[in-house]
Amino acid sequence: MTLDLQLLDPDDERQLDAIVALFAATDAVDAPWRHGATPRSIRQEHLLGYDGDPEPFYLIRRGSDLVAVGAMALPSRDNLDSGWIYAAVHPDARRQGIGRWTYTELIGLATDAGRTVLGTFGIDLPHTRGFVDAIGFEVRSRSVTRRVTFADLPAGATEAAYAQALPYAADYDLLRVVGALPDDLMAGYVQAVAAINDAPTDDLEQQDEVFDAERVRAYERSHAVRGETLYRVIARHRETGEFAGHTVVTVDPERPTFGDQHDTTVVDAHRGHRLGVLLKTDMVRWLGEVEPACGMLTTSNAESNTHMIAVNDLLGYRPISHGIACQRTPSSPAV
Ligand SMILES: CC(C)(COP(=O)(O)OP(=O)(O)OC[C@H]1O[C@@H](n2cnc3c(N)ncnc32)[C@H](O)[C@@H]1OP(=O)(O)O)[C@@H](O)C(=O)NCCC(=O)NCCS
Repeated sequence: MTLDLQLLDPDDERQLDAIVALFAATDAVDAPWRHGATPRSIRQEHLLGYDGDPEPFYLIRRGSDLVAVGAMALPSRDNLDSGWIYAAVHPDARRQGIGRWTYTELIGLATDAGRTVLGTFGIDLPHTRGFVDAIGFEVRSRSVTRRVTFADLPAGATEAAYAQALPYAADYDLLRVVGALPDDLMAGYVQAVAAINDAPTDDLEQQDEVFDAERVRAYERSHAVRGETLYRVIARHRETGEFAGHTVVTVDPERPTFGDQHDTTVVDAHRGHRLGVLLKTDMVRWLGEVEPACGMLTTSNAESNTHMIAVNDLLGYRPISHGIACQRTPSSPAV
């Protein structure tokens, strides 16, 4: 078997379409609940990733057939010893050694870039577990993906949860911000973003992430390039002006029937005021006004993140899938 690995050319529409088609084929088997990639989302992730660091895609071909897609992320602001790699093999081409070959190539690229702590992730399915075991990665964290479908909620449920939380948060104001954050809010806001470092990472070897204004702007740019609208609800302590927490949802105007829940944080000193519930319910109320077609939100957390999951349960989120995050580190047993 001769396989060939090629870095995506982000200006080549045929390559972008081919990657979208391969992910659609793998999702049909492994994760039919996913909304799927678009050429634009692939291009944007390749160039700018989640918040500015490129997350390059690779096409793996056997002859003229695209049999797998690889991806890699090498953080540039923190975790400089880490690299995250991923591959999806077309369902018709599985169990032929293509996954192993692709991971060997990607591990080589990440290692050449000086990364020694290598991670990968996938849906928690028997073949994913069998595969990570075979290529020497250990499962170090388990995640759960949940979805809320607004039409399934009892009438008035979100308003009721919001109203119940409100008296506990009497010392806080909520700010709603669409798109780029005004400059004068940035310094305080970065503290609320950085509170994501308190979210559990289980047994993953991972250092705290470094956040600053540049990173927040890179995140905004990255999602603007993707064409997504960014909705933020921010909680501010009235007396001190401190930013106590935030929640972020993106909606793609080309696919307005669903949104993606990004980070939600409440800063340590401001916990215990039902701000998690208040922020997330206010987001849903707001989306109802400005994105009336948006019928569902999807979110993922570590399974050990009991506080966030309790909030999500209250909002009517129900589990749809479980994931695993795995690592191969210098301390891992030899394969
Ligand atoms: C996981 C995935 C990449 C494996 O790709 P693949 O090309 O089928 O894997 P390989 O043929 O290289 O398998 C290598 C080894 O992994 C293990 N493995 C692979 N598929 C397995 C399965 N269905 N059940 C048990 N073990 C399996 C075996 O040990 C296998 O070696 P063997 O065939 O000699 O026994 C593929 O199933 C896939 O694309 N899944 C969806 C995307 C995904 O989850 N990617 C991230 C994975 S961490």
